[in-house]
Amino acid sequence: MTRQTKRAFIILGLLILPLIVGLLFTYQIIKIPLPTDMADSPAVLYQEGVRLSPPVGAVSIEGQPLVVGSLPENPVMADEVSLQRGEILYSLHCAVCHGESGIGDGSMVPFYEKYDADAPPDITGSNIGNMFDGALFRIITKGMKTMPPLAENLTIRERWDVVNYVRTLEVTE
Ligand code: HEC
Repeated sequence: MTRQTKRAFIILGLLILPLIVGLLFTYQIIKIPLPTDMADSPAVLYQEGVRLSPPVGAVSIEGQPLVVGSLPENPVMADEVSLQRGEILYSLHCAVCHGESGIGDGSMVPFYEKYDADAPPDITGSNIGNMFDGALFRIITKGMKTMPPLAENLTIRERWDVVNYVRTLEVTE
């Protein structure tokens, strides 16, 4: 072997060596314990550690969810805050069909007429006066024939606010 080929081999070896060392780490033949998984984070895992439980006798502010067969009691007082929230939510979620004043003149009504479907009724005053709050809650939650269910759009608390507000809609005539 001439001196020149020897030198060429050494240079080649020096070039290839880092590549081989790199591959050893890449293919984890030599492992470096790097935290690459979120599971190794200091976060508290599901069902792990101490949980804060509500105090004894605490009542959920959301109220009881809709139970099949029985109507839930209205857990939200019809105070100023509730009525104010209810009014805003009503105009966002109900007025398109039932109208701002509740008499059933929302902008969706022509569509109901076009398809000859049962149109949004007047829900003011005595029209719903004989309905329990829970019944109104159930209609909002589950819908009713041609009225869509709105449970996805309104939280439980929001639905009760709307129920409280709907109660205040006056018959206008
Ligand atoms: C997409 C249109 C639409 C929206 C939005 C809508 N409703 Fe209705 N609603 C209807 C229709 C249509 C009916 C009548 C269904 C039937 O014929 O059974 C109805 C029926 C009702 C009834 C029963 C009235 C009765 O005399 O039986 C109540 C109460 C009511 N809606 C309240 C609400 C409230 C509160 C909201 C908002 C949270 C709302 N609706 C949103 C279309 C709508």
